[in-house]
Amino acid sequence: MISVEDLNLRLGNFALVDVNLRVGRGEHLVILGPIGSGKTTLLKCIAGIYTPDSGRIKIDGRDISRLPPEKRNLGYVPQDYKLFPHLNVAENVAFGLKVRGLSDVGERVREVLELVGLPELSSRRVEQLSEGQKQLVAIARALAIKPHVLLLDEPFARLDSVAKARLRGELMRIHEQTGTTMIHVTHDFEAALGLGGRVAVMDGGRLSQELPEVARYLQERLGYIPVDLEGEV
Ligand SMILES: Nc1ncnc2c1ncn2[C@@H]1O[C@H](COP(=O)(O)OP(=O)(O)OP(=O)(O)O)[C@@H](O)[C@H]1O
Ligand SMILES: [Mg+2]
Repeated sequence: MISVEDLNLRLGNFALVDVNLRVGRGEHLVILGPIGSGKTTLLKCIAGIYTPDSGRIKIDGRDISRLPPEKRNLGYVPQDYKLFPHLNVAENVAFGLKVRGLSDVGERVREVLELVGLPELSSRRVEQLSEGQKQLVAIARALAIKPHVLLLDEPFARLDSVAKARLRGELMRIHEQTGTTMIHVTHDFEAALGLGGRVAVMDGGRLSQELPEVARYLQERLGYIPVDLEGEV
């Protein structure tokens, strides 16, 4: 289980304020929030790219707040993928494994490309991939190290509606197959609902995962409470 406790961070005029979050092992949590609400900033704190002014981040009770990103064993898929353009697909996916000096890199790369459904693209240059394929390669690269948690930043943002629907199916299948805990942030309310995950909302740097508050927020924003939540409120 991963938890964020009383996290605060100020960046210029923006601040994350008293963020508390708990995500159970194997859970797929979707954090919905409008543009500029602090979703990426929160993921960067969890990933170790930003250091919070105060608060803790724990995995299974162990405080990881002071560890550098590469020691946290988290898989981070940034909003713009950040694939390495000069490396091919397999080399991108192998990157984290090599940095950690792990053995059987080739086998793990094959396994994880199989998992995301792209085994035939391993020697393709990344600039020759479609947006949907780039997103899946970025997910494969993050999953290769068997992370405690997969952090997904706007995975649907650059996809058209067909590619979105396909990725949604792929994410649900990957989640089912690997049982990886996922925290997925997005402003795309429509694309995120129906993923089967629990929903939290973020607005103005504040986060809530309490059901009545989440339902009230979605009712206000969408004009209705999504079917996923209906039964639980
Ligand atoms: N390094 C920084 N310095 C100052 N302000 C920043 C910095 N990084 C982000 N911000 C500001 O913090 C706010 C939250 O940014 P963030 O990227 O976390 O939003 P977001 O919810 O991910 O938005 P989007 O849906 O557009 O991806 C924005 O107003 C942004 O301009
Ligand atoms: Mg963002």
